[in-house]
Amino acid sequence: MSDTGPKALRTARLVLRPLAARDVDALHPILTSTSVRRFLFDGETVSRDFLAAAIDASIRNFADRGWGLFGITLEDDVPQGLCGFHMVGTPAERQLVYALAPAIWGQGLGGEAVGAVVKHALDVCGMKSIVAAVDAPNTASIAILRRLGFEPEVRLVERGRDVIRHVLRG
Ligand SMILES: CC(C)(COP(=O)(O)OP(=O)(O)OC[C@H]1O[C@@H](n2cnc3c(N)ncnc32)[C@H](O)[C@@H]1OP(=O)(O)O)[C@@H](O)C(=O)NCCC(=O)NCCS
Repeated sequence: MSDTGPKALRTARLVLRPLAARDVDALHPILTSTSVRRFLFDGETVSRDFLAAAIDASIRNFADRGWGLFGITLEDDVPQGLCGFHMVGTPAERQLVYALAPAIWGQGLGGEAVGAVVKHALDVCGMKSIVAAVDAPNTASIAILRRLGFEPEVRLVERGRDVIRHVLRG
């Protein structure tokens, strides 16, 4: 397995770089924390193998399609979260996903990361539309999407959860 894909994306406070296999150790505790899994995985605790497979898929997607999952890093190279594109659902659809360590919520870092990835997706990857499915009570996530110009497309119940599908058209 190799680290392929685009170079890092830089914002005022963050470096976003494609996830690599070594990032499982840093990301697994974040993604399985109660407050992150509540909205990212329908409350489920994902396994390290699940995360490793998602990173594997991301590495392949960056190599083949130019998009995938970025690790969100601050002053060092250790990811404090992730943001990017992943195939979700049946039939599988490319969706925007993101999560940040709860210890650093509320400083605008989530919005900064998602904004950079969306800009890269539209300007560099040439995506014509971006889909993000968000639980209706996830106000912070919805605020990020609305600020970037996403619009609610449809509200539906998925696996018993109240979900609002948001779309940004480039
Ligand atoms: C969504 C997430 C990445 C936001 O990270 P963050 O760094 O705290 O976000 P920001 O500080 O950029 O805040 C984003 C917006 O939410 C608002 N916000 C932050 N915390 C909030 C809260 N607890 N309740 C309501 N709004 C909140 C902010 O005011 C901001 O809105 P604004 O842009 O209108 O000012 C983070 O909460 C997270 O990892 N959640 C769990 C995983 C998840 O929900 N992923 C999205 C699935 S689609």
